[in-house]
Amino acid sequence: MAPRAAGKRVVLGVTGGIAAYKAVEVCRRLVDAGVHVMPVLTDDALRFVGEATFSALASERCRHSLWDDAEAIPHIRLGQVAELIVVVPATARFIGSYAGGIADGLLLATVLATRAPVVVCPAMHTEMWEHPAVQENLSILVRRGVQVVPPDEGRLAGGDVGAGRMAEPAEIVDAVLGMLEVGPRAVARRHKDLVGRRVLVSAGGTREPIDPVRFIGNRSSGKQGHAIADAASERGAQVVLVTATAKPGPPGATVVRVDTAAEMQEALLEHATDADVVVMAAAVADFRPKAPSGRKLSRSEGLHEIVFEPTPDILAELGRRRREGQVLVGFAAETHEVAQRAAAKLSAKRADLIVANDVSVPEAGFDHDTNAVTILAVDGSSRQVPLASKREVADAILDIVVDRLLDRDAPAGGDRDPRSDL
Ligand code: CTP
Repeated sequence: MAPRAAGKRVVLGVTGGIAAYKAVEVCRRLVDAGVHVMPVLTDDALRFVGEATFSALASERCRHSLWDDAEAIPHIRLGQVAELIVVVPATARFIGSYAGGIADGLLLATVLATRAPVVVCPAMHTEMWEHPAVQENLSILVRRGVQVVPPDEGRLAGGDVGAGRMAEPAEIVDAVLGMLEVGPRAVARRHKDLVGRRVLVSAGGTREPIDPVRFIGNRSSGKQGHAIADAASERGAQVVLVTATAKPGPPGATVVRVDTAAEMQEALLEHATDADVVVMAAAVADFRPKAPSGRKLSRSEGLHEIVFEPTPDILAELGRRRREGQVLVGFAAETHEVAQRAAAKLSAKRADLIVANDVSVPEAGFDHDTNAVTILAVDGSSRQVPLASKREVADAILDIVVDRLLDRDAPAGGDRDPRSDL
């Protein structure tokens, strides 16, 4: 049993989806753990499970209406006394109404009338789960500090198989107890911690044309940027990948293919406006031919003098235009004075993190499958990641990004540390 969770008051919200039967098991397990469970069922939940079941198992009788209750304003009382609210299952309709602030019924009124952390456990068919409307609504909730125990892949109602099957009761109970004991970080670490976050990643080396067949490029393979996009996607993020390579992006990601620094800048500035995280892993050319030739330069014409001009500093521009709460990550590929040069870029470009890469280390950096980096943060902290796969480096960067996102979430939601009440 989780001792700190014992005696805590938890509203168990149940909405109208077939997974509502699993809420019965969640209720029983929470009560077994010593939690004081107050069930609230929506009218549609009652089509799937009975009020009597919850009244018998929970610590208080089941409620389902704003009006039938002897209590005046039951949602305010429930919202005030709850130390946590968990919604099992959370349907697309519930998620949409909650994101839109529509207090339609007792449960929605309660989640809108509380300052307690709220955990939602979505369950729906794959097509609905992947619909942009549902994902957008979930992003809104996550940005407000709501914790999500994401659905798994598995058998769905009607025999279909896919993503959208609600997490198992044991996992949900673990999340609730972790939240009551440790706070949102414990929950985020155990689950896909980027669900509901929009992550924009750049990758690869830009190519600046000299003429239609030649370009100025660099040694970047794009592997590190692609590894970050893959890791973010597997951790539940909606990923936009702006890449100068031909490599595939993660399944479900929006992939924008670019060649030049100018194209990369245009794509990044467009997608950065609503991104929660921007990771600038691309190796952007610093200079480009000022006047690329429209036709192939020929050797017979003799030596050509190429005049260069600087490209836009995309990361610095992203830093200037950054929206509130966005986490901005840059890279610094260096061959010498790595720490000093990286620290200078951190402040010059107004990033939160700079991933410093000593590309003179054998097996690290350009075109290798491994990397060794030091992640410098604007608060002066740093973390060293010794030679590891680019995927491991990606996860180390995202761990720090998640911590910063949780720090920035609205305090009204899941960021309240329940220990402050003890
Ligand atoms: N960067 C950028 N736009 C550029 C050049 C670099 O957005 N025109 C970004 C890179 O993607 C990286 C960071 O800035 O995230 C640092 O890139 P780096 O090449 O190490 O540094 P520069 O700013 O180019 O400075 P210098 O070449 O003097 O080291």
